[in-house]
Amino acid sequence: MRTPVIAGNWKLYKSAHETTQFLNELAPLVKETRRAEIVVCPPFVALPAAIAAARGSAIEVGAQDVFWLKEGAYTGEVSAPMLLAIGCQWVIIGHSERRQYFGETEETVFKKTTAALESGLKPIVCVGEKLEEREAGQTGAVLESQFNGGLAGLSPEQFARVSIAYEPVWAIGTGRTATPEMAVEAHAFLRAKIRARFGAEIADASRILYGGSVKPDNAAALLAQDEIDGALVGGASLDAKSFAAIVNA
Ligand code: PGA
Repeated sequence: MRTPVIAGNWKLYKSAHETTQFLNELAPLVKETRRAEIVVCPPFVALPAAIAAARGSAIEVGAQDVFWLKEGAYTGEVSAPMLLAIGCQWVIIGHSERRQYFGETEETVFKKTTAALESGLKPIVCVGEKLEEREAGQTGAVLESQFNGGLAGLSPEQFARVSIAYEPVWAIGTGRTATPEMAVEAHAFLRAKIRARFGAEIADASRILYGGSVKPDNAAALLAQDEIDGALVGGASLDAKSFAAIVNA
């Protein structure tokens, strides 16, 4: 039995002050939740506020990115030990927006995932095809190359601590969700890759989250699928009530 993860990816939204307000509103709304791990991922500068406000609740905090080296002359970067030191527990790696706008590649995804794991952060590694790739029938090939380049080089012990988020790029921020059937097909494909590389036990225990226009009104149908082990939520995670509704689904 895999415990689902519901993670909110806030992207470039919310100040530290707004983060505190959000968590004060969210905590009572999800305090009965026992069946899911709850993660919020604010911008870097709001992480301390989130961690302070989440203390004593079941809500955990993640970053949206991390650099692969611990320290050095790398202006603007933040390392995994720095995140861990402030009480951050999770990190999103390889989000499609980082791939599209910030030059993230399979190689950087692999390095960042390795660094996160070595420091003890729990990575949520994003994969997913673009619309033209889906329409060209390349979804499987894209997922396979993202898995091979970003994840297959980990050791089984390392991979066992990774969650994957399948996020079809055409569904992110567009209001177009994959149908539960489409998501299940992609998740099952990824799980077969995990099984072939890391074995059945790890494949059965691996959590694969769905992301892309998850909202309170479609979350239950997606999360009802055995293959879907949680959600990575963008827009709908910015409002405490709607995020809580997804957690409670
Ligand atoms: P969305 O974003 O829920 O706003 O589509 C999801 C994501 O980018 O992780």
